[in-house]
Parts: sequence; structure tokens; C-alpha cells
Amino acid sequence: MVLPEEVAARILAESVRRRSSLRDVAVEFFSARPSLDYMKPIVRVLTLGVARNYMLLDHILLSLGYGPPSHATKWMLARVLVFEAINGKIKPSRARLAAPKAGLDADKILELRGAKPREFVKGLSSIDRLSVLYSFPRWIIEELMEAGIPGLSKLLEALNKDPIRWIRVRPDVDTRRLVEKLREHGVVIKPDKDLPDMAMIIEGASKATRTPEYQEGLYVLQDKASALVSWILSPRGMSVVADPTAGAAVKTSHSVWLGARYAVAGDLKPARLGEAFRLLNRLKLRHRVDIVVGDARRLYLRRFDGLIVDPPCTDIGRLQYEPEVKMWLTRGDAKYFRRLQLRMLQEAVDTAPPGARIVYSVCTLTYSETIWVIRRLIETRPEADLVEQTPFIGEKPRKLPMTQRMLPHLHKTQGFFIALITKR
Ligand SMILES: C[S@@+](CC[C@H](N)C(=O)[O-])C[C@H]1O[C@@H](n2cnc3c(N)ncnc32)[C@H](O)[C@@H]1O
Repeated sequence: MVLPEEVAARILAESVRRRSSLRDVAVEFFSARPSLDYMKPIVRVLTLGVARNYMLLDHILLSLGYGPPSHATKWMLARVLVFEAINGKIKPSRARLAAPKAGLDADKILELRGAKPREFVKGLSSIDRLSVLYSFPRWIIEELMEAGIPGLSKLLEALNKDPIRWIRVRPDVDTRRLVEKLREHGVVIKPDKDLPDMAMIIEGASKATRTPEYQEGLYVLQDKASALVSWILSPRGMSVVADPTAGAAVKTSHSVWLGARYAVAGDLKPARLGEAFRLLNRLKLRHRVDIVVGDARRLYLRRFDGLIVDPPCTDIGRLQYEPEVKMWLTRGDAKYFRRLQLRMLQEAVDTAPPGARIVYSVCTLTYSETIWVIRRLIETRPEADLVEQTPFIGEKPRKLPMTQRMLPHLHKTQGFFIALITKR
């Protein structure tokens, strides 16, 4: 008999090995084994729980004399069992069945029931304490400290929780009517005070993509911080908005909804543009947006009034959605992404006509990918001016006050950084 703990361990190990999301690996696993469908909810809890707490779980296992830690399936199973034990969720019968498969003594695991995570981090230095307690590699903590994030421990705690979800509503839709309609389908939303087209999902997030209103294109699922990008671009009246790292064209479509006459959604990966195609079709915007496979490091457009640079990043601000990323990210990744981001921004400035507005946004908060990139851009491209943003609803980084950060523990959004640049 296969145990949910073993399935969780297998999915976790596979996710790290392939650097694929837990979700994608789980979908693949369960579609090949429909008879195990009943395990899905528990496996989801276990995989997310382990990914969010993996360093704390390793620390506990080391304190019991096990180790060294790895991302092998057997060690993942050990993490799963300790996770269940400290949450008081493991039954003695299950522990006796599963512990030997992980090379553990079941009694030692059962003794962990009711233990408080803080007991295990006593005596550690402050950075190590944060690192182990919230299970963030030390280099991430150092990057976040260098970026001067306020309330760092609260941020780490928030990144280890489920996200708050948001929808963006088409501008001509009567939001009050939409609130009533969605309530009938079990989705409760609350209109936002800052951005007139945004609403927070209070209840029924999992049903939000299954309503007739969604199919009709009356709204899109999008985080509030991400929606801020097009508001700051301020595309009303622009003839051309370019979005050369458009992915699924979420921000491109928003720019059109906010008044851009025409937009170009580009991406290096055709598969991402397939998603863009589907979204733009659902929103009935295909006639206003061209889709292009292209490299944002060598821009293929010369005439545009506004440009969005939303490049690949470490995704640390999205850990609420995909905590597994913490298990494979390295400082080298942050360095790679910052070079790529700077290159794309330099190309944007070099190509932009004078007066163009360029918004740089990343769903991460590391110093390297946010403040460092903008400082380096300004040093190397004196014709690029960093300008004040409207609306300003986030937090001003002390080291770069003209930019804006959105933080999960303060703004109920994903972690996000935005800079607005104009070309002289
Ligand atoms: C953060 S995602 C963009 C999300 C998108 N703006 C949205 O709101 O849906 C970054 C995108 O950049 C794309 N990308 C990576 N390298 C690229 C390159 N050299 N040129 C263009 N796009 C690239 C990735 O495929 C990915 O879709």
C-alpha cells in the first residue's frame, strides 16, 4: 500500500530535480494514477508544508542525529514525517509504517508531537535564526536585509502562507453587479480602495475561473501589485505599448483596457505566447494586440510610447504560490537574473524614442534584482530618468525612494518592485 507521505516525498524530490513546480509534477503524477485521486488534498498540504519549512525540518532531523540533508526521495520522506509530527498530525500506526522507509526511528518522530519550532532555533545567531525558522537560505535573508525590507520576519512569515487572490475587472463592467453575480457562484469579492478595477477574493478563489463571467472575459485573475504596473505606465492615449516579456499577456491586456490603442506582446517562448493568445481571445482583444516571438535583449520595435520590462526573476515575491522555488534557488540565479534584467532595460532605453515611458517590474525583492539593477542602469544610461510614480500605494525603499515596493505583510499582495523610467 502506498502512503500519502510517500507520494508527497516523491513529488517533492521530482519537483526539485526538474526545477518544475509542485503543481505541474503533481498533475502529471495523479493523471497517470487516477486511483490515487483521493490523496490529492493531503498530498497538497504535505508538499506545500515541507517546501515552506524544509530548512527547519532539516535542522530538527540533524538535532536527532540524522543527516546530512539532501533532496533525495528518502530524505523528503523524513521531512514529511517531521512536518506531520510537529503539526501533531501523525498517528502512531502511520509513523511505524512510514518511519523505517525514511531510515528513521518511529518513536523519535512521535516524540516531536507538539514541539514548538522556536525551541529548535534557540542559540542561533539572528540571521541563522531567521534562515532556519522561516526556511530561507541565508543568502536570501542577506539580500533582503541589504534591500532594507521593513519588518523582515513578518515578510518571511507572510511568504510562507497562502496568498490573497485578486481579480482585475474590465473597465466597463458594473462592479456592484459583478459582486452579486459572483456571489451566486460562491465567489465573494471586495472592491479595492486603491485601484478602481481591482477586487480582493474573500471566499471561493478556487471557483473564480469556473464562472460564466470569467468565460465571458469580464475579469482576469491578477495580483494587485502586478496590476499596478499598467496603472503606472498610464497608457491612456498611447499609440503603441510594447511588452517584450509578455508571458501570458496579463499586463499587455491591462494596458489595452486602460486605453492603449495598440500593443505588442512578445516573448522568447512560444508556449507562453500560446497562453497570451488564449487570454487575449477570451478578453476579445486579439484585434488590438500583436503577438511576437522575440528576444527582449534585441528589441525588434522602434516606435512605441510605453514599454513594460517584466523580465524573469527569482520569483521570491511569489513564494506564497510556489514555495518549492526556495529549495533550488541559488545566489548564482539572482546574479544571472540581474544581468539579464539590466541587459533588457539597457536595450529598452537604447531603443526607446525620447519621452517614452518604461516600467520595470519584478516579482522579487532581492537587492540585486531591484535596487542594484536600477542604480546600474542610471549609471550606464544617463539619458534614463527615474521618475515619481502615480499611483503610489506601496512602500518607498530607503535606498531608492523614487521606486515602489509592494510587500505581502503590508499590502496583502505578492512581493513586488516597480520603477518608472523616462527617456530624455
Ligand atoms: C515574469 S514573466 C512575464 C509575465 C507577464 N508580464 C505577465 O504579466 O503575464 C517573464 C517572461 O519573460 C520571458 N523571457 C525570458 N527570457 C526572455 C527574453 N530573452 N526575451 C523575451 N522574453 C523572455 C519568459 O518566457 C517569461 O514569460
